[in-house]
Amino acid sequence: MKALITGGSGALGASLKKFFNGAFCPAHEEMDITDAAAVNKSILSYEPSILIHAAAATDVRWCEENRAKAWLINVEGTQNIVNALKKLNGNCYMIYMSTACVFAGEHEKYYTEEDEPYPKNYYSLTKLCGEMVSRQCPNTCIIRTNFAPKKQWKHPKAFIDRFGTYLFSDNVAQGIYDVCKKKENGIIHIVGDKRISMYELAVLAGSKSIGKIKLDEHKGPPLTVDMSLSTVRWKKYRIQ
Ligand SMILES: NC(=O)c1ccc[n+]([C@@H]2O[C@H](COP(=O)([O-])OP(=O)(O)OC[C@H]3O[C@@H](n4cnc5c(N)ncnc54)[C@H](OP(=O)(O)O)[C@@H]3O)[C@@H](O)[C@H]2O)c1
Repeated sequence: MKALITGGSGALGASLKKFFNGAFCPAHEEMDITDAAAVNKSILSYEPSILIHAAAATDVRWCEENRAKAWLINVEGTQNIVNALKKLNGNCYMIYMSTACVFAGEHEKYYTEEDEPYPKNYYSLTKLCGEMVSRQCPNTCIIRTNFAPKKQWKHPKAFIDRFGTYLFSDNVAQGIYDVCKKKENGIIHIVGDKRISMYELAVLAGSKSIGKIKLDEHKGPPLTVDMSLSTVRWKKYRIQ
């Protein structure tokens, strides 16, 4: 596999590098995905056989408050990548990283690949629009998932009443590697085999002295309450 990974410096990127040895991971400064010329230069000179598009603006509050920039990165940035891949005449397989947050997040719904998305905030909307853009490439797989790196939680508190079928980023990278080997197309949910709260996830990740927070204490954009997914197309993974 001659792989190119966008977002290589991010949480998932760090895990992907462990599974895709020797992958080309251009830094943000080298290939800003909002810069079509820079995207063309990197992709057309490297000619990857697999491109994993994991770069995105991921902070929900920032996306809500900086809508034009969030659209530029998450939607138009994806379009720049798709435009470059079209020039490789369909010779490159693309993974588009999406999120469980494209769904409304009703209590214990366990959304499958066949359910209708209904984003609750601007970040989720841009990720769904990015999915639509990525579908312009016939050789694409959209992966929806939900994860955290296995390390100290990045916030002082974690929600006890937001849930998901979470995984650690290494588990998701393993899943992406498995999907790439089979070159699956369409939408695939990479999910954990149990539903846990964000607080439980933070504790499992090894966070020390993490505080608890409830949704009614949250001030900011609407959040997806239950990000639990199921899958009718793929296996489930055990969080580890
Ligand atoms: N974390 C989750 O729970 C979760 C769940 C489901 C799906 N996802 C999706 O999975 C992917 C990876 O998420 P993550 O948590 O690993 O994200 P992250 O840690 O926030 O990293 C985002 C990455 O995107 C890069 N980036 C941002 N803007 C860019 C631009 N204009 N040009 C080039 N690179 C840019 C960042 O580079 P710099 O840091 O150098 O700017 C960084 O490498 C994203 O597509 C996200 O939407 C995440």
